[in-house]
Formats: sequence, C-alpha cells, structure tokens
Amino acid sequence: MNIDQHKETFFIKTFGCQMNERDSEIMAQLLREAGYSESFTVDDASLVILNTCSIRAKAEQKVMSLLGHLRKNLKKNPALKICVAGCVAQQEGVEIIKKMPHVTLVIGTQNIYQLVPALQYAAQGGSRVVTSLAETYDIPRFLPNFSAQTPAPPFRKFITIMQGCNNFCSYCVVPHTRGREVSRMAVDIVDEARVLVENGVKEITLLGQNVNSYGRTNSVVAGGGRKGYGFASLLKDVATLADSGLQRLRFTTSNPKDLDDELIACFADIDILCAQLHLPVQAGSDSVLKKMNRKYSIAGYLSLVEKLHKVCPSIALTTDIIVGFPGETDADFEETMTVLDTVRYHGSFSFKYSPRPGTRAADFLDAVPEEVKSARLTRFQQRQDEISLERNQEYVGSIQQIMLEPEMGTTLLSRGRTESNHIVHLQEPFAGMPGDIIPARIIHAGQHSLQGAAEVSG
Ligand code: SAH
Ligand code: SF4
Ligand code: F3S
Repeated sequence: MNIDQHKETFFIKTFGCQMNERDSEIMAQLLREAGYSESFTVDDASLVILNTCSIRAKAEQKVMSLLGHLRKNLKKNPALKICVAGCVAQQEGVEIIKKMPHVTLVIGTQNIYQLVPALQYAAQGGSRVVTSLAETYDIPRFLPNFSAQTPAPPFRKFITIMQGCNNFCSYCVVPHTRGREVSRMAVDIVDEARVLVENGVKEITLLGQNVNSYGRTNSVVAGGGRKGYGFASLLKDVATLADSGLQRLRFTTSNPKDLDDELIACFADIDILCAQLHLPVQAGSDSVLKKMNRKYSIAGYLSLVEKLHKVCPSIALTTDIIVGFPGETDADFEETMTVLDTVRYHGSFSFKYSPRPGTRAADFLDAVPEEVKSARLTRFQQRQDEISLERNQEYVGSIQQIMLEPEMGTTLLSRGRTESNHIVHLQEPFAGMPGDIIPARIIHAGQHSLQGAAEVSG
C-alpha cells in the first residue's frame, strides 16, 4: 500500500558503525518504496528514526537525550512518529517505551526489513516493540533500487556481507545486540555489487563485524554449495567487477584470530584491493587479551603484521584500542604502548573501557579508576598523533593515486583519497568527477591529512 508521498516524510539519524549506516540506507529504501520521501531536517519530518548504537555507555546516553528533545517536535506536530532502531533498540526493547512513552516503534536489528508493516501496525495500535532475535535466519535478498525517486548513487558504497557476531569478546555488546553470526548468500552480495557498479559506483567496502569468518557458520548456503567458499573467495568474486568499472575494494572489520594466509595473499593477488587494513588489536598485553577473550597473542598478532608487510609492503594499518579494561595494570598498558611503537599504525581509534550490560566483563570487579583511564587514553592518543604525522611524512614527494570526492555546490574538486585511505587536499581544485582517480604529488603532510598537487590537468 502506497502512502501519500506529500504527507509522509522521513528523517533518519544514524549513530555507530558502518553497518548501522548501511541499515539506515536499507530502511530509507524500504520507506521510499512505500511512498515516503526523505526530509532533510528533523523538523520537517513526519517520521523520525534514530538508528542507535550501544557500543559504549556514552553512545546510548546520546540517544536517550535526543529522544527527550524530540518531545518538543511532538508538541508542534502531534502526528509525528518516532522510531528507535539499532543496537539500543535491540538491547532495551520495551524499556525504551517505558521511559519514553512518545516513541511509536522500537524495531530490532534483525527486524529492519519489516519496518514498513511494523510502523503501520504500531500506528494502528498494534505492537510497539518488534525485537525478535533468531538463532539462525536468512538475510533477505535485497538489491539497491535506483529508481527516479532515490538519490543518485554516490561513487562509494558499503555492502554488508554478514550480520551478528559469535566471538563474545568479554567487553562487547555486539553479539547481544546483533545476534549470532549469519552470512549472506555470496550470489546476493555479488549481485548487489554489480548493481552498484552498473550505476557508477567505483569503490566498495565489504562490511561485517568479523569479515574473515564469512561463510563459516553457514558456508554451504552462503557459498551456494561451493566447498571451502570463504571470505577470500568472496573478495575474488566481487573483484571480477573490476572489468565493469569497479576501481577499489576494501573491507572491515577483521578479527586477527581469523586472518589467514589465504586472505593475506589477497593483498598481492587482487589488483583492486586497497593496500589498507583495519586490524583491531585492543590491547598489548597477553593477559588482558585473554581476559578480553580475543583468542590471539601479541606474538601471533605481530607475526600477522610481518606477513602483511611482506605480501604488501605499502599496506597502511589502523587499529582499535581499549584502555583501562578491568585489571589492566601500568605494565599492561606499557605493552599497549609498545605495540603502538612496534607496528607504528597509520591511525587508530582508542576508547576508555565502558562496562556494557549483559557482557562478561561488566561483572569483573577490578575496575580501573576513571582518571587512570583518561591519563592512559591521552598518552596513547598523543603518541599515535606523533606516529601518524611521521607516517604521513613518508608519503611526501611520492605520487599517489587519489580518488576524488564530491563537494557541496561545486564541480571543482579539491579533495581525494589515496589507496591507503588518507585524505589529500589538492592545492588547486580539479575539474573532475567524484570517483575519478588521478595522480597527485604529495607536497606536505599534516597529522590527519596530506596536501598534494594534481599531476594531470583537469
Ligand atoms: N567487530 C569489531 C569491533 C566492533 S566495535 C572487531 O572485532 O574489531 C568497535 C570498537 O569499539 C572495538 O574494536 C573496540 O575497540 C570498541 N569497544 C567495543 N566495546 C567496548 C567497550 N565496552 N568499551 C570501550 N570500547 C569498546
Ligand atoms: Fe565485538 Fe569481538 Fe564481535 Fe568485534 S569480534 S563485534 S569486538 S564480540
Ligand atoms: Fe554500535 Fe551496534 Fe555497530 S553497538 S558499533 S551500532 S553493531
């Protein structure tokens, strides 16, 4: 049933990881197909969806305070519908409605494909909480729809290749909010990639909480019956789209425990696979890693780094770090600093440990005091900044292939991204199209970006 498009407009605010961003795109497509149109501000929307993240307590608090603010919009527009999706929705369920009775619908992470009927049902007085989490299920085949009413596809897109996580790192809420790991059918993923490329997409990033284990939990189904079909096979299949115009391929995230030689070899074997890898280490001490249930040692991690450099000398590595995990001593933290100085990451995301409901670590009694966590975080980030600058300086004088990025209101583009995922600001704007790859000479390095000059004329 189509809804009057002039009346129904939606606005989605997305928090959290790229998987949430992709889920928001899927919800947006479902709504457009049902006749809604997109609104560019919260105030103009008749439906506001908050697609939430609960990875750390702060992320969750943000959602609650935003829901509080939305009460004002509801006063101005009593017909406004408010929907909470994503990881906080999954985790809190009916508690959200109890605290925020003005919420129309709470929809769980595995239920987004039912968004439209669930909204209609809730609006008619039906259930307002749809958060069932199945042990196993098939992710529906879902292709992008670039009909007239959807915005033109950008040059770069994400494809979610799997849902959930089976790893149960002791600090992490994701296995609780996203459920068990389920891989999509390879044929669906490749078809989705093909549609994107046919519509002009030049760069694809394959997404999963741990892409390295793609196909392991339902390999026969995911690989369409092909024996041994895993992530490396999928990467190779998607990479065949290079013939149709795909220029860059990336993936995230990789749990080091599942990074095998076959996947490492892809960095040499697949031309369009970018020389860049996000490889979260989390901590530098084996005893902390053990308590985190990460299932690798630092020696094992460093040998992966060595192999990666051997196969792909130009690879840029980034990581995630948690400081102040329960029981982390000064000596443990020094080991994290040692890993940073050994690997010399191009960049990293670092966080203070935040206890999350339902996780094993939430019951650990040896919490690290807040001020110690803060001091460790500052020290880590300062050293990372120094190393990032030094790493960036290594590019000065080199020629890098940069993929141009769009800018609001201009056809002259002055920013692009290297294969290593560094942003390059061009001295002179370039008359190209987003997604074009041009050579640029790097002339200056900052901490967070590079400056370059195009080596061709636009
Ligand atoms: N699946 C990814 C991580 C997803 S969560 C992986 O395994 O690498 C992104 C990052 O958030 C994690 O890598 C971790 O560094 C951080 N994180 C997760 N739970 C956290 C918590 N309870 N407190 C602080 N940081 C956390
Ligand atoms: Fe969380 Fe660990 Fe799964 Fe990553 S691998 S999502 S950190 S449980
Ligand atoms: Fe956040 Fe859920 Fe992603 S907790 S990081 S939105 S999987």
